[in-house]
Amino acid sequence: MNVILVANPKGGSGKTTLVVNLAAMLAIRGDNVRLLDLDKQQSATAWLHRRPADLAPVWLYKPEQNHKTLAGWLIIDSPAGLHGKNLERSLKLAHRVLVPIAPSIFDMTASKTFLEALKIEKTIRKKRAYAGMVGMRITPRTRAAAQLDSFLAAEELPALAHLQETQAYVNSTFEGKSIFDLPVYQTVREREQWQSLETWLKTTPA
Ligand SMILES: Nc1ncnc2c1ncn2[C@@H]1O[C@H](COP(=O)(O)OP(=O)(O)OP(=O)(O)O)[C@@H](O)[C@H]1O
Ligand SMILES: [Mg+2]
Repeated sequence: MNVILVANPKGGSGKTTLVVNLAAMLAIRGDNVRLLDLDKQQSATAWLHRRPADLAPVWLYKPEQNHKTLAGWLIIDSPAGLHGKNLERSLKLAHRVLVPIAPSIFDMTASKTFLEALKIEKTIRKKRAYAGMVGMRITPRTRAAAQLDSFLAAEELPALAHLQETQAYVNSTFEGKSIFDLPVYQTVREREQWQSLETWLKTTPA
């Protein structure tokens, strides 16, 4: 399996939102997608249980399954405050790491140390396409958005997507859905903002 860890020790940075939307996007594409929920709050697991049976299926990963022998994707949602041994273990499992970052000075500052740790891991692995950042909850043309842009641009890791703040993310998750399960005409802009991330996943070997 291709294992993607979604992580940022900062609480509320958008990890679970990124996880469930990514999972649904890949499932709708016809891929086999499993979720591993390391967060005690079990928000991603609860989303999966709410997911209507007639939508593209996303499965829960069972620890007794050997991820190396399965095909498709394993997407890991991680808790706020992930550090030390738990972080090390999760990084060891992952082929790629996605770091969601919200446009606030608190989030950017708190993400910095984590990004440093990832850069060290990247150097150890000597892989180019290993980790990337995703700007979350962006309101275009605001000062906060501009500040996040300069923060992401100054980082060595690539900024893979800029996802805007919209109720489509909030409302869809209530029903176990993603923005990709909503009508296309309602989510044109949201979908466009995922294209660069999707291309990175498809075309860049990890
Ligand atoms: N693009 C978006 N537009 C609107 N709301 C969003 C967007 N992304 C995330 N949110 C909202 O921001 C809040 C935090 O997101 P989320 O729960 O995904 O973060 P998290 O990193 O998983 O939090 P925790 O660290 O507690 O696990 C949620 O209420 C979510 O609905
Ligand atoms: Mg979460």
